Amino acid sequence: MRLLITGGCGFIGTNFIYLMKERHPDWTLFNLDKLTYAGNRKNLLQLEQDADSGYTFIHGDICDKDFVTSVLHDYKIDAVVNFAAESHVDRSINDPAPFLTTNTLGAQNMMECARNAGIEKFVHVSTDEVYGTLGPDDPAFSEKNPLEPNSPYSASKAGADLMARAYFETYKFPVSITRCSNNYGPYQFPEKLIPLMFIKANADESLPIYGDGSNIRDWIYVDDHCTGVELTLLKGQPGKAYNFGGAAEKTNLELVKELLKILGKDESLITYVKDRPGHDMRYAMDYSLAEKELGFTPAVAFDEGIRKTVEWYKENSDWLEEVRSGAYREFMDQWYGERK
Ligand code: NAD
Ligand code: TYD
Repeated sequence: MRLLITGGCGFIGTNFIYLMKERHPDWTLFNLDKLTYAGNRKNLLQLEQDADSGYTFIHGDICDKDFVTSVLHDYKIDAVVNFAAESHVDRSINDPAPFLTTNTLGAQNMMECARNAGIEKFVHVSTDEVYGTLGPDDPAFSEKNPLEPNSPYSASKAGADLMARAYFETYKFPVSITRCSNNYGPYQFPEKLIPLMFIKANADESLPIYGDGSNIRDWIYVDDHCTGVELTLLKGQPGKAYNFGGAAEKTNLELVKELLKILGKDESLITYVKDRPGHDMRYAMDYSLAEKELGFTPAVAFDEGIRKTVEWYKENSDWLEEVRSGAYREFMDQWYGERK
């Protein structure tokens, strides 16, 4: 298969490319990435420098119709997995426009170009956040839940999900959607909870918990999400959305305390800061459809996954240092300055 992956220089895309190369050495992979602040070409440099790896990096924007059309044509692409996105909720609160541009319009552009090119299968990578938020006793999100996004990020992702639905219903375009809970693992950009808290705890700096720390997220090891995307690519029905989760619901406070324990750091580092506006209370996933139709099951327990993740960050302090460039620090200083 000649597979085009968008956003492959980000966190999940990088892990997906390594995993697919390992599991499907015969696949030829193309990675189209704009290299925003969150994209790092060096993540995949070892594949890029190996002439026999069957991996090609393509620098560009998913919003550019002529460019995407020529990529699909020139590289004779069979199938597409669309990971490319602006992915950080806090940044979407600060400035929603790039989220709408890439996450909604960019996804629509990818589907339009793929439809015109007669692509066999298109997987659109979405998120549990499109469903909105749950109360403490609500059943987990199922694919039947209405889309009720609360942040500019989740609204922009929901826009693409609705467009994917319309492309299937209107054009019979072969698109399937994946909706997954919070990922963690190697290469996650250190603006997200786990790597951010890792950096701060290691430096004995205070750990900023929004509100009272009682918000709940379901955590999935990134390889398990990648497996979900792979299964959707291979077996997912066109027109359908599939939920994926890690069966590991935790309050933010519980998670941060576990991390501090692994790092041997004191809980006194925890600081409560001004809450994120519109902060979703709880996410939980019912992924029984993916179990039944795709044979999905999360394989990595949280205790094991978080230890592997911490080890990776310890061994890759250079990576962490490098990705925290000027643009990163600018946003972080402003955002956390406002939370004091
Ligand atoms: P990320 O921010 O780490 O990476 C995003 C990548 O997309 C970067 O390499 C960036 O350069 C690229 N990109 C951004 N705009 C682009 C554009 N216009 N054209 C081409 N490339 C562009 O994100 P991630 O955490 O790896 O998330 C990947 C996908 O998975 C996203 O669609 C996200 O919504 C979804 N998702 C993420 C999570 C999570 O916990 N991180 C959970 C569920 C779903
Ligand atoms: P995040 O990693 O940004 O993922 P998402 O918002 O997509 O779930 O945040 C995970 C949770 O951690 C969320 O409830 C917000 C909270 N959080 C903090 O309490 N402090 C922080 O500094 C960050 C980045 C997140």
